[in-house]
This record gives sequence, structure tokens and C-alpha cells, in this order.
Amino acid sequence: MKATDILALKEAALGEARAAGTADILEQVRIKYLGRKGLLPEIMKGLKDAEPAERPAMGRYANELKQELAALLETRRAVVATAVAPMSSTIGEAFDPTLPGRWRALGARHPISRIIEDAIRIFDNLGFTVADGPDIETEHHNFDALNTPDDHPSRDTQDTFWLESGQLLRTQTSPVQIRVMESRPPPVRIIAPGRCYRRDTTDATHSANFHQIEGLYVEKRVSMADLKGDITCFAQRMMGSDVKVRFRPHFFPFTEPSVEYDFSCHVCGGKGCRVCKQSGWIEISGAGMVNPKVFTKVGYDPEAVTGYAFGMGVERIAMIRYGIHDIRLLYDNDKRFLEQLAQ
Ligand code: DAH
Repeated sequence: MKATDILALKEAALGEARAAGTADILEQVRIKYLGRKGLLPEIMKGLKDAEPAERPAMGRYANELKQELAALLETRRAVVATAVAPMSSTIGEAFDPTLPGRWRALGARHPISRIIEDAIRIFDNLGFTVADGPDIETEHHNFDALNTPDDHPSRDTQDTFWLESGQLLRTQTSPVQIRVMESRPPPVRIIAPGRCYRRDTTDATHSANFHQIEGLYVEKRVSMADLKGDITCFAQRMMGSDVKVRFRPHFFPFTEPSVEYDFSCHVCGGKGCRVCKQSGWIEISGAGMVNPKVFTKVGYDPEAVTGYAFGMGVERIAMIRYGIHDIRLLYDNDKRFLEQLAQ
């Protein structure tokens, strides 16, 4: 035996101690090398037969083996005692850097939230700020101040969720117009996104709970041309730069004149397809010039200012933009559906 053999043996012993992942294995390593019948005592016994020139180095290496191994075994014992359930018998195998990382699901904004956030950004560019109002509204804000007559069908208990207090769950975001005008003098340029409630039976296109975005612009000499220009700008930024806007005469109590407005179909470019039911147009919602009676109710002078107002259904825009045919998909919270729309 030569000194270098003892060096090699030392390296082997230390390597085994480093790889040992449990107290039991560490004990086996100790017995193998340092135990009474172990390899080290055997070496010590053999020293006297070794070449005299080799002997000093052999003695030194044997000593190192003993001390370094004993010290390493002690540290390793402390390490394995605190280690959390090793995945295999040795720490060396427990960490495999070639394994793929663990995938964590990242959240994404809901399509309804995305439409609202995009609309806020688009109208922000046009000088609108965001206004807010409560979901539980007074009859005054939801109907009376909006010039909605007592016998209007939307006031019916068939259509509206009335509370015992006489208040109601707002059926539209239009009451925010009233709250804003009651609280400050003109000019006003706001949008109001929010939840609305109606006693609709849920089907592919109706939901008792849905979202609208209200718009109101009041100043000197605001015109129907401003309304059409701003809605067109919105439509093109939301749906695509070649989308056109069409106004059709309609009636709303709080605007005069009133229109319903359509976007040209962004799928077929207006030629007619399944999405626009061959008409080339997709109905969005209502708009118009603020009725002077509404101005009077909130204390604005109808001779001094004019204004336009519009509403839009958020679900409707989401369904058109993402090609969704059933509104219920937006509320089911089925991750398989939502992940398809996640950005
Ligand atoms: N509030 C109306 C609805 O829910 C939509 C609407 C129409 C809002 C005309 C307006 C408007 O501001 O001017 O059907």
C-alpha cells in the first residue's frame, strides 16, 4: 500500500459522506471507514509493513482521513436532520436541474374588465373622466330625474328589482348622469361604467346582471355631430379602423332627439354574415341629445348648455369583439373558456 492509496480512500470516504441523505446511511459510512473493523484501523495496522519512505505520508493521510471524515459526518448529520423529506435517498439526486420548472397559473383580466378598461382608455383620450354611482339607486335618480314617466314599463316590478326600502337595483348607468350634474356645474364630460340589474330571464343574450358604460358631455353648443364623431372614434379604436357608425331614430325619455346606434360588422366589413345576421350592422345601444327637461331637473339652464348622452352594453361589445354567442359564458367562470381569451 502506498500513501496515494490512502489519499484516494479519503476522497472516496468524503464523497460517500457528502452523498448520504439520511442518518442511517451516514452511520454506515462511519462504520465502513472508522468503525472498529473498518478500513482505517486496517490501514493503521498495515503501516508497520509499509515501505519506510512511505510511512510518514501514509500516517499523515490516514490521520486526515479520520479527522476530516469525522467532521464531515457531524455536519452532514445536522443537515439531514433538518432536511425536508428528501425526494430520494441522496441529496445529490433530490435536486435535478434538468427537470422542467413547476408551472404556476397566472391570472388574467376578465373579458368584461378588459372592455371596460379599454373603453376608459379610449374615452380618456377624448377628454372624459370616470364617474361612479351606487348599484342601489333611488327612484329619483334611476327614473324621475331621467324624465321617465310614472307609467313607463321599465318601472314595473316585472322589469326592475325593487327593494323594500323603495330603492331599486339600478336598471341602467344613466342615473350616474343625474348624480354628476346634481353635484357640479357644467361643463361635464364623463363616462360611467358599472353593473346594472333587470328582471330578465337568463338566456343566450340576456342576463339579470350586466354592465353598461354611460357617457355624458355637456357644454355650450355640443351637437349631434360631436356625438357621432366621438362614438365613431370609439368604435374604430375598439373594433377596428374601418368600422362605421349608423344612427337610427329611436325614443328615450331622457334624450331628444334619440337614436339607436349600430356599428358596421367588423367581421364581414358590412357585406352581411352570420355575426350581423346578414344585415351588415350590429346594434350597440342608445344615445341622443340630453332632453332639456333633464337639464331643468338637475338645475342646469337648457338655454345655456347642450349635451349628448349615450349608453353601451359591455357584454354586447365583448360578445361582438370576441365572437361569443352566449352571454352566460362570460359569467360561468369556466377557466377553459376564459383561458382562450386571456392575454
Ligand atoms: N339607459 C339606456 C338603456 O339602458 C341606454 C341609453 C340610451 C343611455 C340613450 C343614454 C342615452 O345615455 O342617451 O337602454
